[in-house]
Amino acid sequence: MATQETLEATIRQMVQPGKGILAADESSPTIAKRFAPIGVESTAENHRAYRALLFSAPGIEDFISGVIEFEETLSQSADDGTPLPEVLARRGIVPGIKVDKGKGPLALSPGDLITYGLDGLAERLQQYQQRGARFAKWREVYAIREHNPSPLGISANAEMLARYAAVCQAQGIVPIVEPEVLMDGDHTLARCAKVTEAVQKAIFDALHRHHVALEHIVLKPNMVVAGKGCAEQAGADAVAETTVRVLRRCVPAAVPSINFLSGGLSPMQATANLNAMNAGFPDVPWLLSFSYGRALQQPVLQAWQGKAENVAAAQRALLKRARLNGAAQRGEYRADMESEGE
Ligand code: 13P
Repeated sequence: MATQETLEATIRQMVQPGKGILAADESSPTIAKRFAPIGVESTAENHRAYRALLFSAPGIEDFISGVIEFEETLSQSADDGTPLPEVLARRGIVPGIKVDKGKGPLALSPGDLITYGLDGLAERLQQYQQRGARFAKWREVYAIREHNPSPLGISANAEMLARYAAVCQAQGIVPIVEPEVLMDGDHTLARCAKVTEAVQKAIFDALHRHHVALEHIVLKPNMVVAGKGCAEQAGADAVAETTVRVLRRCVPAAVPSINFLSGGLSPMQATANLNAMNAGFPDVPWLLSFSYGRALQQPVLQAWQGKAENVAAAQRALLKRARLNGAAQRGEYRADMESEGE
């Protein structure tokens, strides 16, 4: 298939009403952090067993259109020997891959962060593609402080995301463009809105300069929320209204889908916020959906505890959150659905 057609086919499969993306791409240090509270050792075999549990959970293909994997997962297999990316593909779920190499300080710009991984990216993408990956993810991270993100922090990160996205599209891989404004700190909802707007404006300017086709990207932003330490926390309706206002100002209608990260929101908050956006603003030009890591996986890890006898219960926990977020994508979630079938 020509590159354009490949991108088109992948986007069509990723962007479907009532469905979202599962982020299961925790790097080795991050998955160790998730396993620690349930007493599971962070070994390659435990990573494999856990991802096999997630990817083969019965019924999730009704609500999950794509899964973001970590590099290690691409070469691991399910218990029956099927490569894990193929487990997804056979169920109609698009396999994706996190391609950035994590963040660090932006030199000479105190408090700003930058993400690494552009060197050799085209070659790595070819290898990932051979192992089944059809889309990629790259995350830039913005901490809110008195003087951060600085204008340089905002422009340097935008440039990175645009260069990554261009390399992906040249290769026939759909890029998920992920700018995450962190919830850490005591900043207000209004400050998060201001920073998120500046970040997104810069990103779409950079994507344009780098000739990225907006029809073939997925934007994965933070929701606009107050910092975790802020005394005044907004409810789902205020979060929805503020988030949609920022998105309308920044995101061209050519972008097919906006799939939010959960960023430390509880599973219920993440679902309720997404629902409030879709119920309150059905006329937005993009699909508004999810690409959650923690908000989909927390209940799964709790149910699993690393024990084979808990696998079925853990898979039911994943199906439940996938189903409720699928409902939230349609604006049809209600809090009382949380206890249905229990
Ligand atoms: P969270 O939903 O846990 O924020 O993870 C999403 C993700 O992929 C972060 O890069």
